[in-house]
Amino acid sequence: MLIGKASPEDMNLHPIQYQWAYDLYQQAVRNTWFPHEIALKEDLYDWEKMTDDERHAVKFLMAFFNPGELIVNRSIALGIYPYLKSPECHLYLAKQMWEEANHCVAFEYVLETFPLDRSNVFNLHLDTPSMKAKEDYINKYMRRMTEDTLDVETPDGKKDFIRNLVATNIVMEGIWFYSGFMVVLSFRQRNQLRNFGSMINWVIRDESLHLKFGMNLIQNILEENAELLTKEFADEIKNIVVEGVNLEVDYNRDLFPRGILGLNADYVNQYVQYVADRRLEELGIGAHYGAKNPAKWMAGATDVLELVNFFEAQNTSYEVDGHAADKQK
Ligand SMILES: [Fe+2]
Ligand SMILES: [Fe+2]
Repeated sequence: MLIGKASPEDMNLHPIQYQWAYDLYQQAVRNTWFPHEIALKEDLYDWEKMTDDERHAVKFLMAFFNPGELIVNRSIALGIYPYLKSPECHLYLAKQMWEEANHCVAFEYVLETFPLDRSNVFNLHLDTPSMKAKEDYINKYMRRMTEDTLDVETPDGKKDFIRNLVATNIVMEGIWFYSGFMVVLSFRQRNQLRNFGSMINWVIRDESLHLKFGMNLIQNILEENAELLTKEFADEIKNIVVEGVNLEVDYNRDLFPRGILGLNADYVNQYVQYVADRRLEELGIGAHYGAKNPAKWMAGATDVLELVNFFEAQNTSYEVDGHAADKQK
């Protein structure tokens, strides 16, 4: 069983029961990258030419992304890792947590490089109601995972685990983050902030694995605990996703009070709904919005297997320890 109280046998990796988790761990190790490999300073020329509204969009994104990476780690540490029995899942989550730390440091590097007042940016996530509402939403589900009354051996406890996993993994990592990635990459579509765009490509490569792991985890837990699969619980999961989309819609209105060249809140929010539909379909729940993808170019950016930076020689299909990977084949 994936979920439950840890027992001594759970400390033995072999025989591997959840090969998908071990495979994702190995892929994640090969995807290791370091923020300072990216020459971010070159983007400063673009920054100088950007409008106040464009700078506001970047600042607003950083204000959410930077603490957001640490919030994901807290949710994994408090709400996901302790309740899984599988050592291969623990290996993967340990690597994911390093990646979230690495993303946090990467966004610190952005804050250091661009002429931004760090404390001003940081305080935005405390002072902006639409941003704080997103954090409160995550914290609500995470808090339940720390309460003494939680028992993940019971169906109710397992449902709480899935609720938190849906909020953190599907909504925050799988919808909100993609909305932010789309905004940054749209600058690169206009030949601006190309190196920041490269950094986002590396982050997307990591996040796409995080999402895959979370989806697999939800699907496998539901398979192992078929009694959870009621129409009522499926509706509840859908509502958690819809609530998350509503929060993102409000946030994007503050991100784009007037819109910027080729981009406004309605455009990004249509993309948010499109992405939410894809996540709901993958969960087996069915699309809710029926939204069309307004940013088809993002499909290329998020197709991690062919993720190539068109502007620099750097290629995000680069992998560390490729030799070890070949030997396993
Ligand atoms: Fe991350
Ligand atoms: Fe992540």
